[in-house]
Amino acid sequence: MLSEQIKVVLTEDEMPRQWYNLAADFKKPMLPPLDISGKPIGPDALSAVFPMNLIEQEVSTERWIDIPEEILGYLKLWRPAPLYRARRLEKALGTPARIYYKNEGVSPAGSHKPNTAIAQAWYNKQFGIKKLTTETGAGQWGSALSFACSLVGLECKVYMVRISFDQKPFRKIMMETWGGTCVASPSTETEIGRKILAEDPDTPGSLGIAISEAIEECVRSDDTRYALGSVLNHVMLHQTVIGLEAQQQMKKIGEYPDIIIGCAGGGSNFAGIAFPFINDRMNGRDIRIIATEPEACPTLTRAKFRYDSGDVAMMTPLLPMYSLGHTFVPPPLHAGGLRYHGMAPMVSHALREGHIEAASIGQMECYEAAVLFARTEGFIPAPETAHAIAEAVREAGKATEEGKERVILFNWSGHGLMDLKGYQAYFNGDLGNYPLPDELLQKSEICMQGLPIPG
Ligand SMILES: Cc1ncc(COP(=O)(O)O)c(C=O)c1O
Repeated sequence: MLSEQIKVVLTEDEMPRQWYNLAADFKKPMLPPLDISGKPIGPDALSAVFPMNLIEQEVSTERWIDIPEEILGYLKLWRPAPLYRARRLEKALGTPARIYYKNEGVSPAGSHKPNTAIAQAWYNKQFGIKKLTTETGAGQWGSALSFACSLVGLECKVYMVRISFDQKPFRKIMMETWGGTCVASPSTETEIGRKILAEDPDTPGSLGIAISEAIEECVRSDDTRYALGSVLNHVMLHQTVIGLEAQQQMKKIGEYPDIIIGCAGGGSNFAGIAFPFINDRMNGRDIRIIATEPEACPTLTRAKFRYDSGDVAMMTPLLPMYSLGHTFVPPPLHAGGLRYHGMAPMVSHALREGHIEAASIGQMECYEAAVLFARTEGFIPAPETAHAIAEAVREAGKATEEGKERVILFNWSGHGLMDLKGYQAYFNGDLGNYPLPDELLQKSEICMQGLPIPG
């Protein structure tokens, strides 16, 4: 038993040298982003917020985009990331399924987020930018960008959603260790922050609010740009190294997944593992690809496909996506990175076109799965990652019932070593589920009335 293989590793020479762009392969093209009057926006409209080299990637329909050598050099600090066979979890579940997970928690910041943070910091630096502003939910993205900025040589300012700022104080210290600055959002540093605090001084905050603050600060200076940790096309692109590596790793051991799972907040780690496999599916592979989200923030499973803004103050263009409404403030569940009102337009399009499925899971089932995972596989997962684990456990259960030897692959998007307060609350019996009542869902949609309807 002990001699059986657990890890599948690649050498640095085997790292993917190009990112995969799913936009090249959609039969039905994605809808364009719009301005508030309903007109499609061109690349120039984004130039106050993003550098042109990233905007080019945002609108690209090239299938493969070269990864610059210098970016590969930075990624080698932790990539290729190992693929694990979860043998002990399988045994505990008594399942005939073979469960694999891609461990993205091995990056310096502890999640998949540095895959795009490094790329975004590097392209901004090439463009002559001096400082990046951003938002962060759970703190993973803020730490990833602070880490990337310190390597590449940029200043970094992070607006961290208030509830996570209070729940995860060590994330701020990580950001400061890498030279970044972190403030709780809503803050008194921006107009929108002050306005929201005046209306509701005790608000837990939301990613939508933090994005508004980060953009407001960015547009004040010419040498500052904004970096988004998820949602946008170029972020999905940078994350595809995950799935491209996983494809090679599976091939090395003569396996191929029947089911691929990722948790989805803004959609980036899911896209990272899923998009290269969606390409296989388009080419005839019989696989199921599942995005999982909290039942408290059910964007893919219960929201409508709409044009909506990415932030509360409506500073972003209108994006075609599943959205709960940009004013939606989700309950204070511990998976801070899954509390976003919208979903990446590329992931939304993939769902609309039938390439993927979506499932929602309650907080308690996620913690149960996370604790089982930690007690069998050792690694303590982030609460976001727990949503992927819980779905893998569900699918392994179905394989057991049906007596099928299914191969399940999921993305282990990050570790939970900075998220232990959530575990503490779980062990103390202080956690519960937050199913979203229909009335709240309907109320949160009101803010989208009058916005253009996608065709
Ligand atoms: C560990 C981890 N997993 C998943 C997510 C969700 O983000 P995304 O859907 O962009 O991968 C986050 C976001 O903060 C995260 O920190």
